Amino acid sequence: MITSNCLSVNEGNHLTIGGIDTTKLAQEYGTPLYVMDEDCVRHNCRLYTESMNRFYGGNGLILYASKALCNTALCKIIASENMGLDVVSGGELYTAYKAGFPMEKIYFHGNNKTKEELDLALSLGVGRIIVDNRDELRRLNALCAEKGKKASILFRITPGIDAHTHDFIMTGQIDCKFGVVLETGDAMDIIRLASTMENLEVVGVHCHIGSQIFDLDPFCEAAKVMMNFIGDIKDELGLTISELNLGGGFGICYTEKDDPISYDKYMEAVSKVVKATAEERNIALPKILMEPGRSIVGSAGITLYTVGSVKSIPGVRNYLAVDGGLGDNPRYILYQAEYDFELAGRMNDEKNEVYTVAGKCCESGDLLGENIALPEAKPGDILAVLTTGAYNYSMASNYNRIPRPAMVMTSGGKARVIIKRETYDDIIKNDCE
Ligand code: LLP
Repeated sequence: MITSNCLSVNEGNHLTIGGIDTTKLAQEYGTPLYVMDEDCVRHNCRLYTESMNRFYGGNGLILYASKALCNTALCKIIASENMGLDVVSGGELYTAYKAGFPMEKIYFHGNNKTKEELDLALSLGVGRIIVDNRDELRRLNALCAEKGKKASILFRITPGIDAHTHDFIMTGQIDCKFGVVLETGDAMDIIRLASTMENLEVVGVHCHIGSQIFDLDPFCEAAKVMMNFIGDIKDELGLTISELNLGGGFGICYTEKDDPISYDKYMEAVSKVVKATAEERNIALPKILMEPGRSIVGSAGITLYTVGSVKSIPGVRNYLAVDGGLGDNPRYILYQAEYDFELAGRMNDEKNEVYTVAGKCCESGDLLGENIALPEAKPGDILAVLTTGAYNYSMASNYNRIPRPAMVMTSGGKARVIIKRETYDDIIKNDCE
């Protein structure tokens, strides 16, 4: 099993999370079941905050990227860790608002925010809007005029960095749907335009080069490119940029093959680059913002399933079918994402079988993993998939009209439901005759 600070094995040979026996959680709350450990989430938050304090004198703010997982309980935890929040839709913003999240610490992203979403953001008073393109810039300026408000904005820049990750989650290169391109001069042009707009104040620039990245170099390169751009903005437009948002993307350990860098190493290296470039270009040190999503919640979550059937096709493969699948975790079918799997009730048994773990959707590609070594499994066993805290619930669907599972949060040896299991009535609640 991969090492994690919330997972362990008890004397009964069962997997535990936050000190609680996972087979008991499965029994009490049913399966499939997402389980998150609060203490682990808080621990991950503090690693970032402490690192920012240590290497950049605390002149920054860690924004949790709520696309990784967004719900009321989690927003409250993030707020109590004194962090900010990156939201990317009206729905995430509304969740944060209802959770009582301080609006001034919210950064609103998105490559095509609708007029309604911008309207909501202005009405609620979000701290910053990260403008993606010219159309949005004009829309926002007009809306501000209409509402008699002024908005503080950052620009999403594509810095031309290749982050060596899966194509679908690589976002720093020129050919990308997000942001304005630096190399072509488009980024400078849009900032020039914005600086003439009465209702907008340009405070920062932002980039996000991709997700699940293990190399330090692309992050440092991006920081350097962005700092030089801040220098160019000052030289060309006489404008001081006070916020540099470097996005998220820090890789985490899903299987033993993954070897993430520590945030301390990252922060130390990036701070060095930022400070050196600031001196070179004679610009003031900007406030640094970072937007980790996966690395805050990923390792804090697991999913529990019940094995329903085991089918052996001699000479071909063994299928092990569980009561969930792509509806609650679409990451295998989308990105061939790999996970660590365990039979939660037989943790020390020898893993002498190899399975393809199949979901229950009517879709051959509905798999959770292939070539998975496990002890010989039988119906009724509880299968745990580890590190499912990020981009699982947040990407879940009702395909085949399967209700979404519940989410339970453990803390201090106790568990509580933070998202209820959907019912069949939830499934039909928006149907009209
Ligand atoms: N900031 C921005 C602007 C982003 O677009 C993202 C992720 C983040 C921060 C957070 O990145 P993280 O620290 O979580 O890597 N569904 C995919 C991941 C998509 C990431 C999208 N943007 C997956 O399951 O791997």
